[in-house]
Amino acid sequence: MITIVGSGKVGGAAALFTALRKVTDEILLLDVVQGLPQGEAMDLNHMLSEKGIDVNIRGSNDYSEMKGSDIVVVVAGSGRKPGMTRMDLLKINASIVKGVVENIKKFAKDAMIVPVTNPLDPMAYLTYKVSGFQKNRIFGMGNMLDLSRFIQFIHESTGYSRNSIRALVIGEHGENMLPLHRYSTVSGIPLTSLLSKQKADEIVQGTRQVAAKVIELKGATVHAPGNAISAIIEAVLRDTKQVIPVATYLDGEYGHSNVSIGVPVVLGKNGVEKILELDLDSNEKEWFAKGVESVKTAISGLEL
Ligand code: LAC
Repeated sequence: MITIVGSGKVGGAAALFTALRKVTDEILLLDVVQGLPQGEAMDLNHMLSEKGIDVNIRGSNDYSEMKGSDIVVVVAGSGRKPGMTRMDLLKINASIVKGVVENIKKFAKDAMIVPVTNPLDPMAYLTYKVSGFQKNRIFGMGNMLDLSRFIQFIHESTGYSRNSIRALVIGEHGENMLPLHRYSTVSGIPLTSLLSKQKADEIVQGTRQVAAKVIELKGATVHAPGNAISAIIEAVLRDTKQVIPVATYLDGEYGHSNVSIGVPVVLGKNGVEKILELDLDSNEKEWFAKGVESVKTAISGLEL
């Protein structure tokens, strides 16, 4: 069973895209708002009925119903408003996520946890520390979403099929994220041989800024984060061993420790099965370190 804590737009989208992937028989939507998860579940079940998909979605306000969950997605909390950074949500969301994680410890102690609430990397670190779970069972969704945007920019810049593009983004899911054009390809052809340095730099910056643009235009990002969450769930439940960037705890990898931040990992039935260390150049190392510093500054102010 998959539990999604937070039944707002992103939580609902995550339930929708997860159900369409048919990787689980049951999805539980939880929220503190009375009626919201129940109504969202009904609406989604009606959609699934027309498609003949027998994934049952339940809605509840009772945390105890998450008992037996394989994975708990934590998307509860406030989303940013136009003009805000993800880090601006630190104080308000830390207390919400801490309460959710306490309930996961109580009712779903064997589950894996996918933090999504922003600021993602500090929330992934808080989840690891507060839960006391092994570090392989906690993997935050952030860079998976960033790379989907990076692919869109590459698609727009080259005109080539999205299906031929493999892109990688690591580091902070925030202002210091690191889209790696050196490690991105079109059917194995390095992006560096397809785009000028100027164009590559342009789409790297565009990837960092595009979420804020979507929020300015429509008020929130919904479908892309919901889908990215479902892709991570599928990799774990189908034990695919896909290499996906997630926010996970570092204990010396990339030269950093005692921080959770986005790095490429092998995802399978045991969650983070291996962290892949890339050979970064000096500029990439600098950006990655800036992200680590930003996350460490944020977590230094948390009461864990
Ligand atoms: C975004 C939020 C989920 O990047 O951080 O859309």
